[in-house]
Amino acid sequence: MGPVIEARGLTHAYPDGTTAIQDVTVSIDEGERVAVIGANGSGKSTLQLALGGLVEPTAGTVRYFDETTDAEAVRDRLGVLLQDPDDYLFNTTVREDLEYGPAQLGMSREAATQRVAHVAAELGLDALLDRPPFRLSGGEKQRAAVASVLAFEPDVLLLDEPFGAVDAHYRDRILKLVTDHEGTVVLFTPSLDVVADVADRVIVVGPDGSIAADGSVRDVLTDSTLLQANGLRPPATVTLFEGILDADDVPLTVSDARAYLLDELG
Ligand SMILES: Nc1ncnc2c1ncn2[C@@H]1O[C@H](COP(=O)(O)OP(=O)(O)OP(=O)(O)O)[C@@H](O)[C@H]1O
Ligand SMILES: [Mg+2]
Repeated sequence: MGPVIEARGLTHAYPDGTTAIQDVTVSIDEGERVAVIGANGSGKSTLQLALGGLVEPTAGTVRYFDETTDAEAVRDRLGVLLQDPDDYLFNTTVREDLEYGPAQLGMSREAATQRVAHVAAELGLDALLDRPPFRLSGGEKQRAAVASVLAFEPDVLLLDEPFGAVDAHYRDRILKLVTDHEGTVVLFTPSLDVVADVADRVIVVGPDGSIAADGSVRDVLTDSTLLQANGLRPPATVTLFEGILDADDVPLTVSDARAYLLDELG
């Protein structure tokens, strides 16, 4: 399977001169599950915007599905969830926001209604559909924004911190929707505890906006030195079992840690 997104030498400087990402070369294959991690301000969101074709990079190129460098031409295949839900929700009701993507992309009215009903039910939005989006709580807004991206069933999800404002129940719901997604997933996040639930490959963005590491989820998440050098902390399970188990055996998720303990103690 070929790359769905291939970036070469991507650099982006904002108009005030801040260089947010530097010389990023990365290729995401169809069906891959990738987490892009990095400290606050490292450049994750800028990289997401550049990969999603929403900012023009200062240098470098992005190519999509091995066929075009025009992100607009493949807009219906890219589901770009921006970090700030307020960037999505601009219609008069939540329902209109959810129907906007499917309608723009030419999904039939019947298919769109069905799909919106499904994501709304999954994310607990049924009772909120007729409300203006600006009258939602922070977590509700985030759920509505996630729903609006999932509603049009894009092939590739580029999700910038979709769990930041939601409670544990909805974090699990969003995790399930993301893991059930049949296409490609790229998750941008500064919090490492969910990374192993979603990804099998991890890209670390360093403090200077360049790629500091790109490897398997186990290699990256168990490398405390690498993580600390880039302003990150390993997931809680790694901190707990580091030095007790070999890096190959350290549980990376809470459910794996629990299974290990039950096995040992039981
Ligand atoms: N519109 C902007 N104009 C100027 N500088 C910006 C702008 N947006 C972001 N930056 C700067 O670019 C750098 C990268 O920002 P970015 O938002 O990509 O980081 P991030 O890794 O997503 O951080 P966070 O974890 O806080 O979301 C930071 O130094 C930030 O201050
Ligand atoms: Mg960000």
